[in-house]
Amino acid sequence: MKIQIKTIFSSIALSALLVGCNSKPTSEMDAFIDDLMGKMTLEEKIGQLNLPVTGEIVTGQAKSSDVAQQISEGKVGGLFNLKGADRIREMQELAVNNSRLGIPLLFGMDVIHGYETVFPIPLALSCSWNMETIEKTARMAAIEASEGGICWTFSPMVDISRDPRWGRVAEGSGEDPYLGGEIARAMVRGYQGDLTRNDEILACVKHFALYGASEAGRDYNTVDMSRIRMYNEYFEPYKAAVEEGAGSVMASFNEIDGIPATGNKWLLTEVLRNQWGFDGFVVTDYTGIYEMIAHGMGDMAEVSKLALEAGVDMDMVSDGFVGTLAQSVAEGKVSEATIDQACRRMLEAKYKLGLFENPYKYCEERKEAPAYSLQERKDFARKAATESFVLLKNEGNLLPLKKQGSVAVIGPLGNTKANMPGTWSVATIMDSAVTVVEGLQRVLGDQVTVRYAKGSNLMSDAAYEQRATMFGRELGRDNRSDEALLNEALQVARQSDVIIATLGEASEMSGECSSRTELNIPDVQRRLLEKLLATGKPVVLVLFAGRPMTLTWEAEHVPAILNAWFGGTETGLALADVLFGDANPSGKLTMTFPKNVGQIPIYYAHKNTGRPLIGPWFEKFKSNYIDIDNEPLYPFGYGLSYTNFSYDNFTLDKAEMGVNDVINAQVTITNTGKYDGAEIVQLYIRDMVGSVTRPVKELKGFQKIFLKAGESRTVNFEINADMLKFYNSDLDFVCEPGDFEVMIGANSRDVESLPFVLK
Ligand code: BGC
Repeated sequence: MKIQIKTIFSSIALSALLVGCNSKPTSEMDAFIDDLMGKMTLEEKIGQLNLPVTGEIVTGQAKSSDVAQQISEGKVGGLFNLKGADRIREMQELAVNNSRLGIPLLFGMDVIHGYETVFPIPLALSCSWNMETIEKTARMAAIEASEGGICWTFSPMVDISRDPRWGRVAEGSGEDPYLGGEIARAMVRGYQGDLTRNDEILACVKHFALYGASEAGRDYNTVDMSRIRMYNEYFEPYKAAVEEGAGSVMASFNEIDGIPATGNKWLLTEVLRNQWGFDGFVVTDYTGIYEMIAHGMGDMAEVSKLALEAGVDMDMVSDGFVGTLAQSVAEGKVSEATIDQACRRMLEAKYKLGLFENPYKYCEERKEAPAYSLQERKDFARKAATESFVLLKNEGNLLPLKKQGSVAVIGPLGNTKANMPGTWSVATIMDSAVTVVEGLQRVLGDQVTVRYAKGSNLMSDAAYEQRATMFGRELGRDNRSDEALLNEALQVARQSDVIIATLGEASEMSGECSSRTELNIPDVQRRLLEKLLATGKPVVLVLFAGRPMTLTWEAEHVPAILNAWFGGTETGLALADVLFGDANPSGKLTMTFPKNVGQIPIYYAHKNTGRPLIGPWFEKFKSNYIDIDNEPLYPFGYGLSYTNFSYDNFTLDKAEMGVNDVINAQVTITNTGKYDGAEIVQLYIRDMVGSVTRPVKELKGFQKIFLKAGESRTVNFEINADMLKFYNSDLDFVCEPGDFEVMIGANSRDVESLPFVLK
């Protein structure tokens, strides 16, 4: 017999009366779910734990299953990667009208940096250090995705990573746990709000945990890390997202302490639920349960049991739960109570989203105008992109360019729409992206003549280019010879006053399964760059990349370098704004740029070691290399502006503090240049002596301030004892009395420091 939602509701009142006699309801929600679960068969409960993929948008290895049939049988809890409210409504109707209990489905998607309007990739956005901007992009993404029927996004991705070989650094916020934590909070707030409106969607913090520490930067690879390091350097952003109320968590592919995260009870139950108080649901990553067979953890029945008992509530794509759990219960291997617990969490999520009240909440035609119009979203994407670009070099103030004469845009990334949005723009309409050439033409009109030549393919090696441009983000390979492409470009370049070299990676060279062992600009593009420089014309390198690249040669030879990452749909316009001075760049790096791949992992918050190199490179029997110094090419926190900022009068209001006191650290920043601009003032702290070794500095505060040319402002940071805490060898979060150093500066390298004491 089919029980409609309405019937379920009408029975709540009754059950609320009845429950008083046996179990005590903690809330209306509990009473509702108790009642519903009382009607569910074991198979239906297991069905709630199942998240198949439809294959309509591809984000993993395709799997075919008859999803419609499964939905009708009550064997599906949610679906992901469906685009369009009508399509989603169709599937929801199947669940509501055709399954016995009519329980609505969750509809998820990888809305990682926007839906149709795409914002800069997360690594780029993090370089804005602007929490309001970041929160607003998440808010706008939620509005757009929810208009398309989506109620759940697999974001924020908060994996700390210090290895740019790993392509997925593009999806995260870089190397720093504190900054990463602040960004995680902003994104959860932006997506979820208070989850009452139909334009607020459930966040999913991922990939829990440590996915960014995969060995050799190879995707899906092994992770091995001490617990003290997990707690001090990698857990903070996940914990911050949980504290902010993230409704779901995704288990990562990698192992932790020898047990895959998907089956790791210590991680998913002890840390996540018992220590951090998480009360949402845990979903696996794509085929995470199935992959435990290859990890060597057992057959499908065993790994499914392992995952469930570890704390997984929802199985993404493995079919492990629907395929094996009923039998395991029958054989007495898995308790029904464990399944009940997971099922309850899934129903709670649906309840909190309001899907029981209205299963079509997210796919109904909206009566009111959206909080932001499409044009407002686009304008904001453009602004966010200008904030995310990082100016790495600007010799002789080549930038900003004057709005006169002519420019030559040269390079394989200068006129390609598909490569502007960046990895994880699965729902966008590629044609709506603005290329560099288009952006310059639209912003500059007849003021500047804009010419374009491709100059080279992405790589000479067609097979490599094919691997690097999968998923339909092709550049359109030009079949002319390298020589012919180069000659054409040189001709175009010679006719123009300035060359804008648009080089780097295609967008699919970062993101999932896009690890690289060399991080240089591909050879054929480098050769093009050399020839462009040899023309004697001024060259601005606009670098497209989803990761820190090794730019040692470029830093020496090219006068101006703007790291554009992948700036989203409005990239071309944002680049025109910045290159021609309508916007002043203010982005600062959130990942260290190495000089070469051999320095990786390289990060600013490293330990001192017992043999630190104090003098200049090289010293025998010190911790250094014989072939290169220890310094990065560009440090964490680094980025230039068209103006200059001076840092003066750095003071502390006292030199000692107790655990309940604060010290005020002040510094006066002056915009000493000709342009108005924003500066990101950074505060670092070093614990000089500890019961365990402590990093040479750790970011503990930052402020992004806007100063008009000539303007000064005194910035104040309050230092309190919480900022001095760390996990000790018992994994207790403590601060220890003793000597500290506080540093303030424009990046992690160029700081001034003052000592203070915690009594
Ligand atoms: C990725 C996740 C993503 C999921 C669903 C996986 O391969 O690791 O980040 O959310 O697919 O598309």
